[in-house]
Amino acid sequence: MNHMKTYKDEDGCKVRMAMQQEMEAITKSVMTCTRCELYKTRTHAVAGEGTITSPLLFIGEAPGHHEDMQGKPFVGKAGNILDELLASIGLNRHDIYITNILKCRPPQNRNPLKSEISACSIYLEKQLECIQPKILVPLGNFATAYLFEKFGLHFTRISDVCGKLYRVTTLSGTTTIAPLYHPAVVTYDSSKKAQLLKDMEALKSALP
Ligand code: URA
Repeated sequence: MNHMKTYKDEDGCKVRMAMQQEMEAITKSVMTCTRCELYKTRTHAVAGEGTITSPLLFIGEAPGHHEDMQGKPFVGKAGNILDELLASIGLNRHDIYITNILKCRPPQNRNPLKSEISACSIYLEKQLECIQPKILVPLGNFATAYLFEKFGLHFTRISDVCGKLYRVTTLSGTTTIAPLYHPAVVTYDSSKKAQLLKDMEALKSALP
């Protein structure tokens, strides 16, 4: 029995009502989460943003200052670079869903702790189940390490795996993991931009 209702979004695309409701429920739990200490210092939790029916799920590390202030992912400098990268292959934010490993900002943007990742990952796991993306794009070391461990792949470091495509089997079929350097890297090493643009081409080749 198909009990899912559908409606059309502003672009006239079909969105499954059940999926929409599920994502709203996930977002609501993120907003009031107290599973680790980061809730004490956050301004806003940042659940994620974008098109839930997209085949592309981008996963960053954690909200920074601007994201914490606005409650939206990738709205600072790294977000501008991400927009440029997307545009280089003819995409924009509306074509993807984007979230982070951690939904709350670590103080002074320090690296996520293992305990924070394990407390927070229930939300990413629910988002993965809800969206069932065809392509997963982890940005930087933390998101890539998380996905590689989840799917039993050997992770060394981001420089060894970025720009390559990894096919994994999920409950919904085959999914491609296309790791990229974190866009923020360009803010302190501008030479990485060329590499990122090249790696976007690899990602483009995996688009459905
Ligand atoms: N860096 C991230 O990893 N995520 C954001 O949302 C912003 C910057």
